[in-house]
Amino acid sequence: MTNLEILKRLYKNYTRKFLGKIFLSILFSLMVALSTSAIAYLLDPAIEKIFIEKNKQLMLLIPIAIIIAFAVKGTSLYLAKVTLIKVGGELLKILQMQVMQSILSSNVETIDKKHSGKILSHLQYDTGLIQKLVTDSILLFTKDTLTLFGLLCVMFYQNWKLALFAIIMIPLASVAAKSLGKRIGKVTTESQVVSGELTSIFLEIIKNHKIIKIFLREDYENKRSGEYINKFKEKAVKIQTVMNRATPIMETLTGLMIGGLIYYAGSLILQNELEINNFFSFLAAMMLAYQPVRTLATLNMGIFQGISAAKRILPLIDSNKIDPHSNKNLKVNNGNIEFKKVSFRYETSLNNILDEINLNIKSGEMTALVGHSGAGKSTIMNLIPRFYKPLNGDILIDEQSIYNYSIISLRENISLVSQDTTLFDDTVKNNIKYSNLNASEEEIIEAAKLSHCDEFIKKMPNGYDTIIGENGVRLSGGEKQRLSIARAMLKKSKIILLDEATSSLDAETEEKIQKAINHLTKGRTTLVIAHRLSTVINSNKIYVVEKGKIVAEGTHSQLLDSSDIYKSFYQKQLAKNNEINLSNN
Ligand SMILES: Nc1ncnc2c1ncn2[C@@H]1O[C@H](COP(=O)(O)OP(=O)(O)OP(=O)(O)O)[C@@H](O)[C@H]1O
Ligand SMILES: [Mg+2]
Repeated sequence: MTNLEILKRLYKNYTRKFLGKIFLSILFSLMVALSTSAIAYLLDPAIEKIFIEKNKQLMLLIPIAIIIAFAVKGTSLYLAKVTLIKVGGELLKILQMQVMQSILSSNVETIDKKHSGKILSHLQYDTGLIQKLVTDSILLFTKDTLTLFGLLCVMFYQNWKLALFAIIMIPLASVAAKSLGKRIGKVTTESQVVSGELTSIFLEIIKNHKIIKIFLREDYENKRSGEYINKFKEKAVKIQTVMNRATPIMETLTGLMIGGLIYYAGSLILQNELEINNFFSFLAAMMLAYQPVRTLATLNMGIFQGISAAKRILPLIDSNKIDPHSNKNLKVNNGNIEFKKVSFRYETSLNNILDEINLNIKSGEMTALVGHSGAGKSTIMNLIPRFYKPLNGDILIDEQSIYNYSIISLRENISLVSQDTTLFDDTVKNNIKYSNLNASEEEIIEAAKLSHCDEFIKKMPNGYDTIIGENGVRLSGGEKQRLSIARAMLKKSKIILLDEATSSLDAETEEKIQKAINHLTKGRTTLVIAHRLSTVINSNKIYVVEKGKIVAEGTHSQLLDSSDIYKSFYQKQLAKNNEINLSNN
């Protein structure tokens, strides 16, 4: 997108919504311009009537008029600003909500690619820069253009020759500022990239603080983050430096102008072409014009900053893809799932991760996937709720291709217990009912009881209203797992996807979790990635996954005869169970 296209787009999508208020603020800006010009103009009669002609009546009236002019200027400036501050606040809200919305609705692959720190930086800083572009620029542009125009009128009125001399200087100032603006835009982009990296590192340090401590990597992290903090500082200093580079240029130009002007005005007075009262009024107008000229000359810096932020944000907002089948709803009666020659690879992977997978996950039954770590089991599971899109093949639920129906109607029918439990920093109750916000108190407690959560929840300081901390830090591993099972249970969906946690727990907790899982999956279509022997033995059908292919299928006893991989999995689990039994005795 070119800069002009971005500005047009910003106008169409955002500025246009606030035209009424913007118009109002332009009206106040007009009053600022008029009152400022009046101040400059009033010096002419003030000097002529009061100092030269010594007119007593006007000695009172002119100062009063000056006071009024200043009061009007101040008030209208205030009103113009406040009106646009409100617009700015509203605009920032809209932008942040749109970024949030696009993150919520973007696909899993897009989010996988981006570090959360970068997303945070878009949400916080880039939106602010765009808001500044839209509101500040409008205010400054209209107010200062109008004021400059008013003051120029006063200058021409007082003496057109002097005025012509003065405006020669204006283009000089703006040429200098234009190149600065481009430079600022570039440095701002660099600075935002560094700021995103910095946020990413901060987030990682906070999240991984225990690992940092145990490996004594405080110094290492200090150095690593220090580098980015320093980089960020350099960019921030650079921006400010470039921004202020305008000052010496502007000041010198101003000096040049005033010096030249006094010389020129002197010669005009000598030739009787200029009166002293006109000169003072002219000088006042010119001094007052200094600020608008300066602001207008540096305005493009803010514009370039805003445009470079928009270049980062608008693609993010646009990536909010609409589900092409959002009208057609998948109808799930039995919940029979079929994979037909499904192949898949992640955007970043070199080879296919899944290769022509065929699966038949029968309704109401438990189907298990077993296989070595990295074989592709979780990947298979992630395709069912359409977290990722396969290269080839089709997935059918009750004979309907899931790609022809809305994602919402698909996900409504699926519950997921993932390998690493994910909880929210909220109360136990809200964590359970996350899957079903309309669940009644009784339903929540029932789910908690069936998943063996009730027993530990009751012992917590505030029971179901206890806050569990970020991702449930105040809970044990087994408790977290049971809580995520309770949450899945409450959804009462036809299809359950269960990626068993690999971390082994003590035998008693294992048994509780096993019971919880039995309640969760009863009568539902379940696909489980099994790491526990008991789960596999309970399954109606087992698929053995190896390097992205299905290498064997059958029941537990069939596979013991037919599959070596399965046999070795079984023997390892058996040995592990014996260890647990031994350690418990
Ligand atoms: N988001 C991702 N992007 C790129 N590659 C990935 C991604 N997730 C997994 N992989 C790769 O895909 C392969 C299969 O991973 P998957 O998570 O499906 O294994 P798994 O069978 O579930 O293993 P485990 O039993 O250890 O959970 C692995 O080689 C892994 O490196
Ligand atoms: Mg896995």
